[in-house]
Amino acid sequence: MDPTSLQRLVFLTSLLSCSTNQARLTVTPSSSQVFEDERVSLRCEDASDGWTVRRNRSYENRAECGVGWGRPAGSSCTISSSDPLDSGVYWCESTEGSTSNTITITVSGGSVILQSPALPVMEGDDVTLICRTKMAAPPPADFYKDGVLIRTESDGHMTLLHVSRSDEGLYKCRVQSKGESPESRLSVSEKPTTTSSPPTSTTSPPTSSPPTSTTNPPTSSPPTSTMDPTTPQPHPRFLHIVFRVICHLVVFCPYCISTFLMVSIYRERARGSDHAEQGLDDDDDDVMSAVTTEHQF
Ligand SMILES: *[C@@H]1O[C@H](CO)[C@@H](O)[C@H](O)[C@H]1NC(C)=O
Repeated sequence: MDPTSLQRLVFLTSLLSCSTNQARLTVTPSSSQVFEDERVSLRCEDASDGWTVRRNRSYENRAECGVGWGRPAGSSCTISSSDPLDSGVYWCESTEGSTSNTITITVSGGSVILQSPALPVMEGDDVTLICRTKMAAPPPADFYKDGVLIRTESDGHMTLLHVSRSDEGLYKCRVQSKGESPESRLSVSEKPTTTSSPPTSTTSPPTSSPPTSTTNPPTSSPPTSTMDPTTPQPHPRFLHIVFRVICHLVVFCPYCISTFLMVSIYRERARGSDHAEQGLDDDDDDVMSAVTTEHQF
């Protein structure tokens, strides 16, 4: 393989590994169910310009924020007063078509919702699901998993200890004389191995910092019952920056080194050539064309 194609290969590979840098969609309140009229904020984290929030609903596909729904601000999107018709699957998408994780949001026009994590929870974490009515305190509730009654809790809170993959499923709750909530899926993601690099894990942050935003209760109840603090949080900022720096070094080092090598090889050849003036001119042209081809990516 000649140096140029090797160089192109190295360049393309590093470029590809960098562009897999993924945006992450988060939602506030961090619950997969909300009551109608609540404000819902969607944010594309780690996203550069050109990422927008999109959604699928049963009768509409890939609708972009700002086009018929939501108020865009940069890579974020706010629904100031949600409607049951806003129920759907949301994600971030770049202009090149890269996509983030998805979040399923159910806006309920009913009187009971199940507050459950909108993002996958990590294996081993404790997760609390809260059954809510529009009243301040969660009422006594029955909790169902995949349609089967699994627990009755007098304070409306059900905590799953050390969740594993077997806890995944569709959950809902029921309040006597009030009715039942919609169903939402609880997803459990594998604990990230400490050796894995940050860009490959899209859902699980390397550390779990305390949440910056807790789930706001739909009514003005005291902030005693927040969602479980184990809800996945975004990457620490500096890890991301370190990764970008390494990434850029990986891209530019082979590129610069091989450009330098090629130029010196041509120089060497030009100097060694017997035809002093004319040959040197020709070779300089070669160097120029070689350099311009490299820059045509
Ligand atoms: C949105 O809908 C389109 C068309 O049905 C489908 O191809 C795509 O996978 C959906 N996206 C999500 C995130 O569900």
